[in-house]
Amino acid sequence: MGSPSLDKGGTGTLAAEGAAELEVQAVDKTYRARAGASTHALSDISLSVAPGEFISLVGRSGCGKTTLLRILAGLIAPTSGRVLAGGRDLWQGSKRDPAALGKFGLVFQDANLFPWFSIEDNIALPLKLRGVDKRTRRAKAAELCGLVGLTGFEKSYPRELSGGMRQRAAIARALSYDPSVLLMDEPFGALDALTRDRMNLELQRISVATGATVVFVTHSITEAVFLADRVVLLSPRPGRIRSITRVGFDRPRELDVESEPGFQHVVRTLRHQLDEED
Ligand SMILES: Nc1ncnc2c1ncn2[C@@H]1O[C@H](COP(=O)(O)OP(=O)(O)OP(=O)(O)O)[C@@H](O)[C@H]1O
Ligand SMILES: [Mg+2]
Repeated sequence: MGSPSLDKGGTGTLAAEGAAELEVQAVDKTYRARAGASTHALSDISLSVAPGEFISLVGRSGCGKTTLLRILAGLIAPTSGRVLAGGRDLWQGSKRDPAALGKFGLVFQDANLFPWFSIEDNIALPLKLRGVDKRTRRAKAAELCGLVGLTGFEKSYPRELSGGMRQRAAIARALSYDPSVLLMDEPFGALDALTRDRMNLELQRISVATGATVVFVTHSITEAVFLADRVVLLSPRPGRIRSITRVGFDRPRELDVESEPGFQHVVRTLRHQLDEED
C-alpha cells in the first residue's frame, strides 16, 4: 500500500504518461443571461485525466462542478479553452465531434429511470436508441444486472426498487454501451450513509472491473477521498482549481482505510481548504 501524499500541482497535467483520456485546457465558462447579469462559472480550468483514473470533484455549492462535468461530457461548450477526449478536440467550432458521442456514460443525482419501463428495458434503452437488436439488448442487460448486483430484478419496475438499487440501475444503463468514461454528478447524494458506503464499494469494484475513467462529483469529502486517485477541489466565483490532492492508497480499497491516519490527514486537509472558502 502506498503512502498518501498531497500534490499541489496547479494544472493537474500528468507528466509524460501518454495520451490523456480527458483533458480541459484553460477552460472558461460564462453563462450569458438574455437580459441582466451573466455568471462567470469557471475560470482557467486545466485538468488532464489519465485512462482508468478516478477523479473526485469537490467544492462548495455553486462553484461550478456540474458545469465542469457538462463541459467534459460535451453537453455544453466552454466559452473559451479546449476540451479533448482521447486526444481529439470535442468541439470543431460550435459542432461537437460525433465520434465522442459513445464515449461517455452519464449518471446524475436522480436515477432518472423511466417508470413505465422494466429495469431491463431502462438499462438497455441506450442500446435500443442505437438500433441494437432485442436479443443482444437482453443479454447485455442481464450481464449488467449481474455487474451491479441486480440479478433477479430485470423484470421489476423502478418503483419496486430501493433508492440504492435504482442508482445501481442508472449506473448499469450508463455502462450499457461500454463507455470509456463515466461522468457522475452526486449519484449517491440522496442515499443513507450505510447504503452509500455499499454503493461506494460497488462503484469501486465496477470501475476496476471495467477499467473506465471516472469523474465523480460529490459533497462528501470522505466519499471523494475513498474513491479517488486524485481529488480536485474547486473554489467558487468563478470556479477555479484550488488544489489537486493525490490519494496514495492503492485501489481497490476496503472501508477500513478510512480509519488510517494517512486517509484522515487527507480528509482534514481538504476540509480546511473548503473552510477557507467561507
Ligand atoms: N444553465 C445555467 N444558466 C445560468 N447560470 C447557470 C446555469 N447553470 C449553472 N449556472 C450558474 O453557474 C454557477 C455554477 O453552477 P453549477 O451548477 O456548476 O455549480 P455546482 O458546483 O454544481 O453546485 P451544486 O453543488 O449546488 O450542485 C452557479 O452560479 C450557477 O448559478
Ligand atoms: Mg451541481
